[in-house]
Amino acid sequence: MRAITLFEGDGIGPELTQSVLSIFDVLKLPLEFERYDAGLTSFEKTGQLLPAEALASVRRNKVFLKAPITTPVASGFRSINVALRKEFDLYANIRPARSLPQLETRYKDIDIVIFRENTEDLYIGEEEMISADEAVAIKRITRAASHRIIRLAFDYVLRSGRKKLTCVHKANILKYTDGLFLEEFRRISADYPDVKAEDLIVDNASMQLVMNPENFDVMVMPNLYGDILSDITAGLIGGLGLLPSVNRNEEYAMFEAVHGSAPDIAGKNKANPTAFLLSACMMLEHLDFADEGARLRRAIARTYDNIEDCTADVGGKAGTREFTQAVIRNLN
Ligand code: NAI
Repeated sequence: MRAITLFEGDGIGPELTQSVLSIFDVLKLPLEFERYDAGLTSFEKTGQLLPAEALASVRRNKVFLKAPITTPVASGFRSINVALRKEFDLYANIRPARSLPQLETRYKDIDIVIFRENTEDLYIGEEEMISADEAVAIKRITRAASHRIIRLAFDYVLRSGRKKLTCVHKANILKYTDGLFLEEFRRISADYPDVKAEDLIVDNASMQLVMNPENFDVMVMPNLYGDILSDITAGLIGGLGLLPSVNRNEEYAMFEAVHGSAPDIAGKNKANPTAFLLSACMMLEHLDFADEGARLRRAIARTYDNIEDCTADVGGKAGTREFTQAVIRNLN
């Protein structure tokens, strides 16, 4: 048996976890989940945000599936999601947005993969109050971190038979930080003559994404732009409930839905588990269960043939549990 660490998360996390567990019961793979709480739920039960046993489990297993974890806004503890990315140096956040053909969306055939740098930029949360009326935040960009995410993205374009890599930045204004990221992109692009390398300023990239999404293939960008632009790609394919991701380096891989813990619908059997299930598919592929990953992907896609079996966020009538049962029926 291969062990995988599973964080059950907050808000809709437990419902998504149940969905994955029910499906994996049917798949009958030689995989077992080591289940832990982290974040708010864990804090309420044990006083610890990230229990030491959970971290030890990740260190043993190297692969983990994580349901969304709540981060209080403006005050309270810092993000556990950011802490996990930092603890394991998960420098690459890869977010593939693909259309489900059955869904009514503005555009068909979206297929855009975002590579988001995951360890620096404004996201490091180095902020301070200068006075009661003035706050500053540090935007840190290093050559080493830029280099590894850009190189990974170029390698991915080649390996996956894709054609183009777009670098997103604001180097016209942030000449040192984003300037460094762009300079590294241009330098590395010389090693990949078969990849079409282009760069766009983030505001223009946002507009182009919503007007001409077919112009994009693979994209690479610093942390904060990746956070925002990947919500745009989620919107293009039908919403946050559909976008999976992996946060990884060469040793560890953490699979999670892009969305958060959705406290507004938690415990109401309303959450769409698609993004979390697609993250589990990516995990299966990573673990060399490619056939099983493809089987689960087909079952999810087939479930969208009958919109009645889908959740309300995409126009359906089913709850999380009913959607999960439909996916299980479609596995056969
Ligand atoms: P959110 O993604 O949780 O929710 C935004 C909107 O999308 C809500 O209306 C929600 O109901 C809806 N939504 C999200 N996922 C859905 C799903 N699977 N099915 C149906 N509807 C869905 O974003 P929000 O409200 O900004 O954040 C809530 C909490 O989640 C915060 O504490 C935030 O810090 C945390 N968060 C955690 C993340 C993670 O664990 N990786 C990522 C993003 C936010």
